[in-house]
Amino acid sequence: MGDTTRFAGERPVLTTRRLVLRQPVDADMPAIIDTVGDLRVSRNLARVPHPYTEVDARFFLDQIAPREIVWALTLRSTTRLIGMTGLSPTEDPDEAELGYYLAVAQWGQGLATEAGRAVLDYGFGVAGFTSIVAGYFAENPASGHVLRKLGFVETGRADRGCLATGRTEPSVELRLDASSRLC
Ligand SMILES: CC(C)(COP(=O)(O)OP(=O)(O)OC[C@H]1O[C@@H](n2cnc3c(N)ncnc32)[C@H](O)[C@@H]1OP(=O)(O)O)[C@@H](O)C(=O)NCCC(=O)NCCS
Repeated sequence: MGDTTRFAGERPVLTTRRLVLRQPVDADMPAIIDTVGDLRVSRNLARVPHPYTEVDARFFLDQIAPREIVWALTLRSTTRLIGMTGLSPTEDPDEAELGYYLAVAQWGQGLATEAGRAVLDYGFGVAGFTSIVAGYFAENPASGHVLRKLGFVETGRADRGCLATGRTEPSVELRLDASSRLC
């Protein structure tokens, strides 16, 4: 039986070579709206509406962040949020789903992969999940590339809804097991 408290409580600060991963706070609201309000970002995410307003950011900070394992991403040199990452619950208490987004200006520097490694270390090593799953829209190969660099393997295809576009899109589903990551 999985530990149902895994998704509750404060998140520890995680640091990587270039990033700090910390709890999102109210002062992040403008940066969250700037970042995920960009349709180039939200059209690749399932649960983010477009346009994205203060009400949506408030809902995220009050209702989503406390119930999921969520970190704001900042560069080590500044406190301004440049993206978000985290682990969401699935139907299996021993499993979580990895998600992430970055401001467009920060794409293409390996930052999502760097953040993903830190989240996987936490998810397997600290939270004790046995599997972490992820899915990306087939038209978003950059995210597929991130997930494969992190060791995820494809398990199938599905149709997922995208709130920002209102469309249902083909999605590639992947998984990484703790046991295979140790090999
Ligand atoms: C997906 C996203 C997080 C990637 O962030 P990033 O920091 O640019 O990712 P990384 O630099 O770590 O890795 C991206 C890889 O994809 C590759 N890539 C970029 N565009 C690509 C494309 N069109 N086709 C194939 N690969 C592509 C890059 O070359 C890089 O691989 P490399 O390191 O081997 O060169 C970012 O584009 C984003 O926030 N997108 C919108 C939200 C989103 O898609 N979230 C994920 C939902 S599943």
